[in-house]
Amino acid sequence: MLRRERALVAAAEIGRRIGPSRVLTDEELVASYAGDESEVPPVIPAAVVRAETSDDVVATLEVASQHEVPVTPRGAGTGKSGGAIPDHGGLVLATQRIARLKQIDRANRIAIVEPGMITGELHAAVEAEGLFYPPDPNSLESCALGGNVAENAGGPRAFKYGVTREYVLGLEAVLMGGQRLSVGRRTVKGVTGYDLTALFVGSEGTLAVFTELWLRLVPRPPRTATALALFSDAAAAGRAVAAIVAAGLTPSVLELLDEESLAAIRARGAVPVPARATALLLIEVDGEAELVELELERAAEACEAAGAVEVLVAQEASQRRALWAARRELSRSLKAAHLHKIAEDIVVPRTAVPEMIARTREIGRAHGLVVATYGHAGDGNLHSNFLWDDPSLSPEVERAVEELMRLAVEMGGTLSGEHGIGLQKAPFLAYEQSPQLIDLQRQVKAVFDPKGLLNPGKIFGRSGHGAC
Ligand code: LAC
Ligand code: ZN
Repeated sequence: MLRRERALVAAAEIGRRIGPSRVLTDEELVASYAGDESEVPPVIPAAVVRAETSDDVVATLEVASQHEVPVTPRGAGTGKSGGAIPDHGGLVLATQRIARLKQIDRANRIAIVEPGMITGELHAAVEAEGLFYPPDPNSLESCALGGNVAENAGGPRAFKYGVTREYVLGLEAVLMGGQRLSVGRRTVKGVTGYDLTALFVGSEGTLAVFTELWLRLVPRPPRTATALALFSDAAAAGRAVAAIVAAGLTPSVLELLDEESLAAIRARGAVPVPARATALLLIEVDGEAELVELELERAAEACEAAGAVEVLVAQEASQRRALWAARRELSRSLKAAHLHKIAEDIVVPRTAVPEMIARTREIGRAHGLVVATYGHAGDGNLHSNFLWDDPSLSPEVERAVEELMRLAVEMGGTLSGEHGIGLQKAPFLAYEQSPQLIDLQRQVKAVFDPKGLLNPGKIFGRSGHGAC
């Protein structure tokens, strides 16, 4: 039987078990589950299961395994490395409808949530209780916590608070084949056995499908203050980042935007960025009111010493909101400015940020591409974007991306800080990791998914284990 037919047979059986309305096979409907927010071309699955309960997930993974049909788990589809693209066809298993907030426990500072819950909704719910869930990917209004955990998502606040992994105490998951598994703990401390929670976080949907997440919360900071440091070049802004950290300060956010990124924001007209700025740092400090003012002042001094033209402190909440809206839209604004865009999320040691920005620009120039660099400079995590309008430049883009990836690794960095390897960066895995390490990880994958059916093609590439 052909692969697509096999998938349709499995879909029909799943429909009989969980109810046919939860299984889509209509071509137009399944087409909306073909892509994500990366630049990887979409692939239309044979069918989509819209799970509403963890039992639906169990049924899907059991039947798909029996029929040897690939399954691609999907949260809200906002991923940026192709992780939710059903590369091998088969079934998409959408968990967006398993979305309850089950508990906020103030005394133990944990939240129990289902994977389809939107990240921004959890923020609002816990903040209303005086608590705080720090991970804040830029798509927070539309991304789902299950996807955040699968990709180990970051965001601007990761500079002070760390990434998603640091907030996942444990979880419930279902393995390919349908076995349920509880992993980790609901306590703050705990060292029993191997840390499989840490392994599952960031496993990009290749090991298991999450059905419940046990998340650590922290107290909500009482005050937040925001400043914009304007620079006449990105290298000086990069040097200011290192200076702020060297001064012993830990702002919650240290975001850098270069000239091309500012141009995209100006073109959208959403927020007035002074014309004299050709690069800027968005700095945010949170904590007790008196300390916040002091820390922001010291960060401003460090910026001035590093050559800032001016430091503007956001006076009104509305100014802050406008700034953040523009920053969060930046990826989409860049896309709107050119016909084609490829965005990466390399990380380098933060002291190497100025050099990385300059060398990325050189790579772009050598290949005839526009370069925009912005991102979480405090973490050395840069969104390096190549932009172009002439489709015949595609081979140049491929070479530019290869050079960028090699350079990030040569400079002591890593391929991906928060978007995951997915399909987009799978060809470069061996730039960073040894053949032994890659092979070990494939063996780990095979322990959880011996037939290689869960999200095949991701991380290890199409020829890796799990390709069929
Ligand atoms: C951002 C996304 C692309 O930081 O990670 O805008
Ligand atoms: Zn980012």
